[in-house]
Amino acid sequence: HTIYRKDYRPYPFTIERVQLHFALEPQHTIVTNTMHVIAKEHNATMVLNGEDIELQAIYINGKALTSYEYSDNLLQFKPSETEFDLKIVSSCNPSANSTLMGLYVSGQSFFTQCEAEGFRRITFFPDRPDVMSEYIVTIEADKKQYPYLLSNGNLISSQDLDNGRHQAVWHDPFLKPCYLFALVAGDFDIREKTSHTRSGREVLLQIYSDKGSGDQTLWALDSLERSIQWDEKRFNLELDLDRFMIVVTHDFNMGAMENKGLNIFNAVYVLADPETATDANYMGIESVVGHEYFHNWTGNRVTCRDWFQLSLKEGLTVFRDQEFSADMAARLLPPEAALSARTVKRIEDVTHLRAAQFPEDAGPMAHPIRPDSYQEIGNFYTMTVYEKGAEVIRMQHTLLGEEGFQQGMQEYFRRHDGQAVTCDDFVNAMESVYKARHSGKDFSVFRHWYSQAGTPTVNVQLDYDTHQQTASITLTQHCDKVGVEKLQADMEKKPFHIPFHIGMLNQAGQAIPLNIEGLEDITPTLQNGVLLDLKVPSQTWVFKGIKERPILSLLRDFSAPVSVIYDYSFEELAVLCAHDSNPFARWEATQELISREILRLTQCIQEEKSLALNPIIHQVWQHNLSDPLLDAAYRTWILALPSEKVLLERLHPITPLALNKALQFVRQSLATVHRDVWISTYQHYHAQEDYQPDPISIGKRSLKNLSLNYLLSIKDPEGIALAKTQYQQAKNMTDRMGAISALLHYADKADTETINQDFYQRFENNPLVMDKWFALQATSAQSVKTIRTLMDNPLFTLRNPNRVRALLFQFCMNNTEAFHQNNGEAYTFWAEQVIALDAINPEVAARFARVMDNWQRFAEPHKTQMQKALQSIAQQTALSKNTTEIIEKALSI
Ligand code: ARG
Ligand code: ZN
Repeated sequence: HTIYRKDYRPYPFTIERVQLHFALEPQHTIVTNTMHVIAKEHNATMVLNGEDIELQAIYINGKALTSYEYSDNLLQFKPSETEFDLKIVSSCNPSANSTLMGLYVSGQSFFTQCEAEGFRRITFFPDRPDVMSEYIVTIEADKKQYPYLLSNGNLISSQDLDNGRHQAVWHDPFLKPCYLFALVAGDFDIREKTSHTRSGREVLLQIYSDKGSGDQTLWALDSLERSIQWDEKRFNLELDLDRFMIVVTHDFNMGAMENKGLNIFNAVYVLADPETATDANYMGIESVVGHEYFHNWTGNRVTCRDWFQLSLKEGLTVFRDQEFSADMAARLLPPEAALSARTVKRIEDVTHLRAAQFPEDAGPMAHPIRPDSYQEIGNFYTMTVYEKGAEVIRMQHTLLGEEGFQQGMQEYFRRHDGQAVTCDDFVNAMESVYKARHSGKDFSVFRHWYSQAGTPTVNVQLDYDTHQQTASITLTQHCDKVGVEKLQADMEKKPFHIPFHIGMLNQAGQAIPLNIEGLEDITPTLQNGVLLDLKVPSQTWVFKGIKERPILSLLRDFSAPVSVIYDYSFEELAVLCAHDSNPFARWEATQELISREILRLTQCIQEEKSLALNPIIHQVWQHNLSDPLLDAAYRTWILALPSEKVLLERLHPITPLALNKALQFVRQSLATVHRDVWISTYQHYHAQEDYQPDPISIGKRSLKNLSLNYLLSIKDPEGIALAKTQYQQAKNMTDRMGAISALLHYADKADTETINQDFYQRFENNPLVMDKWFALQATSAQSVKTIRTLMDNPLFTLRNPNRVRALLFQFCMNNTEAFHQNNGEAYTFWAEQVIALDAINPEVAARFARVMDNWQRFAEPHKTQMQKALQSIAQQTALSKNTTEIIEKALSI
């Protein structure tokens, strides 16, 4: 059953006020929902959603309603009045709710998750984001078990009741769609702080976490305060609440949820202390706390008209959290170091996009950032909607500049504060500023980013004329039909508006200043670069006064989410690797250089030819290993090997085992040739300082751990000894993980057994660290058998998404060698687990089902084996809507 964007109709009723009463019991909760309804249309039918809940009674203005229809999770009736109170009583069983949507029990507490369509699992309601109401919520529960009763907004009253029960009443003064509703009840540690917003308003910031974990919430609370200050400063947006709460849960389908005033977070994005959380965890917390906080304006104050508009809030909010993290990383640093820190953040985001969104955009689930259809909206919380969505916002930022973009944001809020709107509304606001600043230009071509899927390629051609001293750059774009587009015969792809940032270097590596006089669709940028504004299938720019054949520095800062095709020579790439003044492009050149070599070696392995690494690679690594101008974090990235996932995308067909071997070969030869420098680099950066999660310290730890990885890839005895010592003496989790990870992935079992056990025993009682342990086992396991044994471990359960992600997702997504074994055993295992998981948690199962998205591009025997595994799932009868959509599309598109 497919839902189409074009079928949108406004809801014919306004629900002004919602009064909810919860009588909480784990196995039998009674919800009384009183709505004040006003009809907007004459004679309209009122349609309410309800799922997995039991209808007890319906009243209109106090009188029992008897003429209604209730089937297929829809409750429908025709009200006889135009304004009335609608009261519906229903019950549910939170302790049996393993989907983690709606009201559920996690540990000893109650939590809710309503986005996208969870509210219908709590009560009957028009569960769609364009119905916005004022909420008054009464929660009643046992006082001893559930001393804290929380909901959105402000606490109006609380009082004790009979039988050891108590109640609290909450009022949220802001109109909101039901997906932003939240309720929490339980016993918690609280960390709180009173803070003042820019206008002097006093706000209470609170973090609720499970008992005993309150000493791990300092970083999250500080991150929240930084988020508030940053949004005031950079976006001129102030917190509108007196109270802002974050509550931690260990059972959560995603990262976190921006419920108005009551964010609910996966524990992994809140809890941290140096002994148990890595640098990546610290950064993850800062960015997710920021993300959810920023939703308060981009998502909550202005929300989505329908779920096709999801990127309206998610793409924009990811862009905002990326900028927040970049600004935090660059904070207090001198200009050069600040640029480097921002670049590192950009490299991370782009790598993430290429590794996970590019494949999505090339597979059966490909969709525009604003999809035109879906079967299950839970399947569209995707890398495309989020991360590509953020890139589309970033391009608008690039085209408008910071000042213009901020002006566009102000215009967006001026027009739409308090409304449920569309992506078009956002682009309209931005376009109004663009038009005012660039006469004759608009976003009409730019909008195609919202309506078309796929990663465009931009083919670059350089024609250098020695006599005229001109360099002509021709950009030609192309994008194949992907995903559901392939099924639409009459659809023809239109060009994208691609801001393409370039620079030119001479053969010695110096920047060539570019003269843009007389050129159109071009703007000068930093580092002697220019921004080419490509809006047509192909366009040429002729640069005059270029004294020698230039080396092109292309798509600087990843100015658009496209793939570049340009016929570089190895020598040209090597010059960029050492000299490009744009640090992002310099990194990119190192990746391109080594990627070409890895892909060539993969081919050699396929053909059983002998392997040898091009010496240019060694020269580049040598140079960058010792370039004193580079800070450690950036250096880590330019010395690291490209992501295996990014490389897989460039193979036709995909030969995972050969690629994996080629990667190992390259890693080992870089380790062997530069062995002594890796040792000295390790020693130089290995410091026993007090733990600080600042970019400089993080950079040192990452370069040190990278060195360790290279050394252990050749089982260097001194490297192994250093890793063991690092593990034993570690005072923080980044050091401990760096060491144990390198050991488990590269060293012999005899060298790792004790450490592996030590880790387990040390952290047995900390679920977040045990997730790390399971992930380490999953990615270093040599066979499915090991994974099955781990599933028998008492700490493993299919009911906890974090644990499932740690063991099953990690094995299937990040253990090429074992998962893609030629016997196909792991594919059968995967299918089994998708089916088992689907019965428990459809949303997580459907996500896991996507492991096989790009099966059609694999080489045999993988392809046929994967198809069989997919078919075995398709044959199941009671499959969820979520998993069905994924499997159906994988098999048919
Ligand atoms: N809006 C949340 C975010 O910050 C994601 C929630 C999605 N939840 C879900 N069960 N699909 O990105
Ligand atoms: Zn979000």
